[in-house]
Amino acid sequence: MPSSTAHVATTRPSRYIKQLISHMDHKAAAELAGDGRGTITFGRGTCVLTPSGDHLDLIATAGDIEALSGVQDVVTRHLLRFATQEELSVDWTAPVAGDSMQIIDPVVSDYLLTHCTPADDLLQELVVKTREATGDASGMQISHDEGAFLTMLVRMVGARRAVEVGVFTGYSSICIARGLPEDGRLLACDVSDEWTSIARHYWERAGVADRIDLEIGPAIETLRALPAESSIDIAFIDADKVNYPLYYEEIVQRLRPGGLVVLDNVFLGGRVLDPAYQEEHHLAMRRLNDLIVNDDRVDSVMLPVRDGVTLARRR
Ligand SMILES: C[S@@+](CC[C@H](N)C(=O)[O-])C[C@H]1O[C@@H](n2cnc3c(N)ncnc32)[C@H](O)[C@@H]1O
Repeated sequence: MPSSTAHVATTRPSRYIKQLISHMDHKAAAELAGDGRGTITFGRGTCVLTPSGDHLDLIATAGDIEALSGVQDVVTRHLLRFATQEELSVDWTAPVAGDSMQIIDPVVSDYLLTHCTPADDLLQELVVKTREATGDASGMQISHDEGAFLTMLVRMVGARRAVEVGVFTGYSSICIARGLPEDGRLLACDVSDEWTSIARHYWERAGVADRIDLEIGPAIETLRALPAESSIDIAFIDADKVNYPLYYEEIVQRLRPGGLVVLDNVFLGGRVLDPAYQEEHHLAMRRLNDLIVNDDRVDSVMLPVRDGVTLARRR
């Protein structure tokens, strides 16, 4: 399902949105939110309009290219007609589908990587080892900035009891374990003996092996076997996406007040934003993202860190 955006320079963004919403109200479902954001739902697509200081951001989405161009055309024509006191330029980007959405600009990405605490030699060696040992699967490893973020979160929460779902070769476990105090514990869940044997070797070398309890087996069984009490301070979910809703539920019940669950890959490379993607894991992630925002047990925030990271904090 393609989408396209336009960034329109103007001194009166809110005014145009109001005009468009009130004009469209008779022809389409048009809604103006309290923060000035407008949504117009046409038969074959939608347009979201967001005002900002000196510009108006437009997002058009539709079922196919032809319908998308129809939405763009209607919105552009009306905006140009309303702009009697200035000359607007409405330049839409080329259509992008969910699988080719660029979540972080590569220039920004590089800047982020070079502006957080650097990875030490051991983590850098683990990256190389993982690439050599696992080939294409090495793309599953979290990035260095995300690792630094995890260590920081563990420390900020003051965590002693942590859970990780999805160990792979151990990069994120090292980052979590390093944030724990010496008597802290990390329960690390994975199904792979092969990949976690690399993790075990690097945990030893990082000096954190004595804080980590590795459980090999389906993570849902490991989580369900945990005591029901609220004993988890922080949990990181980064395993099979289809089971995220189950992992979230088992963990959130056991989080202590103020405890944090961190979920990785909540954008699924952009596919979660594109309703054309209907495989089981797309549906599961979309459902979970919607559930968390309405879950009154937690406060949550979704961050554009790499492939999307959600933080949900137990109230
Ligand atoms: C994305 S990788 C984890 C990457 C890791 N966090 C890191 O920083 O390198 C996903 C891991 O989840 C594991 N996994 C897949 N299905 C699982 C399941 N049902 N239960 C437990 N682990 C599972 C895989 O074996 C794989 O190691």
